[in-house]
Amino acid sequence: MTTPTPQERVFSGVQPSGDLHLGNYLGAIVQFVELQRHYQCIYCIVDLHAITVWQEPERLRENIRATAAAYIAAGIDPKEQVIFAQSSVTAHAELAWMFNCVARIGWLNRMTQFKEKVGKNRENASVGLYVYPVLMAADILAYHATHVPVGEDQKQHLELARDIAAKFNNDFAGGEVFFPQPEPLITAEACRVMSLRDGKSKMSKSDASEMSRILLTDDAESIVRKIQKAKTDAHPLPGEVAGLEGRPEAENLVGIFAALEGVKREEVLRRYGGGNFAGFKKDLAEVAVARLVPMGEEMRRLCGDADYLDGVLQDGASRAESLARPILNRARELVGLP
Ligand code: TYM
Repeated sequence: MTTPTPQERVFSGVQPSGDLHLGNYLGAIVQFVELQRHYQCIYCIVDLHAITVWQEPERLRENIRATAAAYIAAGIDPKEQVIFAQSSVTAHAELAWMFNCVARIGWLNRMTQFKEKVGKNRENASVGLYVYPVLMAADILAYHATHVPVGEDQKQHLELARDIAAKFNNDFAGGEVFFPQPEPLITAEACRVMSLRDGKSKMSKSDASEMSRILLTDDAESIVRKIQKAKTDAHPLPGEVAGLEGRPEAENLVGIFAALEGVKREEVLRRYGGGNFAGFKKDLAEVAVARLVPMGEEMRRLCGDADYLDGVLQDGASRAESLARPILNRARELVGLP
């Protein structure tokens, strides 16, 4: 990684809409931890995004704290980096409104995540869910963030944020680069962690089967059981990455192994190619337990200390507010708002 310039800043967010899983961890949070060594990082708990679908209010309050606990347990330093809840900095919602007036309906109609989420039930989806990517653009641009670590499912939303930044600059800043173009940072090995029950669908909070996902708070026994029962196919593991093609379950497990160990898939296949799944799964379970269980325990410990977590969130909110306020004020001025 090259030395960042002072203008470079990392922003990312996770929804507090349920238990965090291995996809969130490997796709996003591992990168959050790594990036703090080189950048100023702002890590948000996007509660306004979470309420685009109904959340039980008391659970939401708990999940906001649990997400902060996950960030800290994973290794993000809350003193050096900014950890806060989105709704406590009003700049997000204010800028999102301006961006609602910049983004075009045609742009939002292309968003595949919205289409996948609502399916045939489009008429009944909240308006918030539809404009969700606009709020996401506001999150990022309110801090002039330049780098955004995410899983691959967020790539299209980042493209929309870039389009909004460019159109705002063009319409209101005379073409000057007021909002920078944010870059997605996506890790190759874990860009898309898939369900353990179906290698063709993404590991997600909303899958009906609990066996489809490993939670960050799962105990060792559950992790081992979920990996042992993970769907595979009837062939031995291939010796090379090309041999994973058309074998989504094998590809997923090899990707998870590689991401947990911080090595390339080639390396995993060099070790396990030609072998059956039983031995591979046993080792994978061991690696997963060693990595996840201590983090889960730390999360639970932190969740027992609501005062500490609330303190982190308050401190983060005031630091986030002072970063976003001047940018929001300048955006208002550019638009002509008093
Ligand atoms: P969310 O809460 O759905 O997911 C949080 C992060 O986890 C990644 N992720 C995955 N990565 C790999 N494989 C998976 N199966 C998997 N599932 C989830 C997501 O890509 C994401 O990085 N819209 C965002 C939250 C958000 C945001 C932002 C992100 C709001 N504002 C601004 C970045 C910048 C979301 O719903 O993430």
